[in-house]
Amino acid sequence: MSDIHHMPRVLSGVQPTGNLHLGNYLGAIKRFVDLQDSHDCLYCVVDLHAITVPQDPKALAQQTREIAAAYLAAGVDDGQAAIFAQSAVPEHAELAWIFNCVARIGWLNRMTQFKDKAGKNKEKASVGLYVYPVLMAADILLYHATHVPVGEDQKQHLELARDIAGKFNQDFNVPDFFPIPEPLIGGPAPRVMSLRDGTQKMSKSDPSDLSRITLKDSDDDIAKKIKKAKTDPEPLPDNPDDLAARPEADNLVGIFAALSDQTKAEVLANYAGQGFGAFKPALTEVLIDRLGPVRQKMAQLLAEPQHLDATLMRGAERARTIAGPVVKRTKEIVGFWQA
Ligand code: TYM
Repeated sequence: MSDIHHMPRVLSGVQPTGNLHLGNYLGAIKRFVDLQDSHDCLYCVVDLHAITVPQDPKALAQQTREIAAAYLAAGVDDGQAAIFAQSAVPEHAELAWIFNCVARIGWLNRMTQFKDKAGKNKEKASVGLYVYPVLMAADILLYHATHVPVGEDQKQHLELARDIAGKFNQDFNVPDFFPIPEPLIGGPAPRVMSLRDGTQKMSKSDPSDLSRITLKDSDDDIAKKIKKAKTDPEPLPDNPDDLAARPEADNLVGIFAALSDQTKAEVLANYAGQGFGAFKPALTEVLIDRLGPVRQKMAQLLAEPQHLDATLMRGAERARTIAGPVVKRTKEIVGFWQA
């Protein structure tokens, strides 16, 4: 047992780095809402992670408010879950330093996201980008979180967090001090793909705006993007296994399923034998139906920044009541002087 007790706890985070897209929504934010009744939930806006690549200081605080607004608009209840900015809880950076001394360089060298993000010029990447997954481990373990809802692209980072927890517990002979966190990666859309190329992940950095649907897109934008989405000429099958070699079709069926709280098999039961001429308008309707209210609520919330700031402030206070004792105990375990 961990020596700090609590009910099952969820922590997750999203970077305040520009337009949120359907992948962020279906892989993470929508799923945050489903967990809040059964778990003690902390949802962070990870601004310390954002500055691992250059950010405009004039825009960053507003981008943080936008993520908080997206959490609330999607249905996260700030009375139940703590919504806060990572930089407002200094314990994240404090624990990350200790974990920098636990994690091994060899572990970080295996991280594929660093290789992707640093590109060809690794020498010019920030040191922060390299140790990014160590900070992510600190985000999670700081709260002794037991479950972490994320999209599939974060799987390797979660494995690193598990390795860091295990090594700390072993090195300092405190079995089970840090619980080994479980990734919650699932549902029909754990990896939403580009609308232009079903083999590429939907991402903020894709140069084509047509590749992604964002939470700010108007109904017309959504309709246009689905109309232009790449497909194949075959009708939809009746079995999800038959989508395996059809990445674009698989992606659109997965998006439909996730938005309408169905499985892919349930979606196919209604559309088997039909082509995209019939499926695309239905998908557009579901997208507009689900995303329209989120977009409108986000706009309302952003028009009242003082309300968002109050939410972020309360969230940070709550987060610190959990993080403070964990860091204090961690420092005792490491052997630091404390009065
Ligand atoms: P970020 O900001 O890149 O993405 C936020 C969440 O969205 C998910 N996601 C996707 N899911 C499905 N399909 C996609 N195409 C897609 N693109 C993004 C991500 O998996 C993520 O869940 N490192 C994290 C943020 C983070 C974090 C944490 C998460 C920092 N500390 C602690 C959990 C726990 C990230 O960059 O997410």
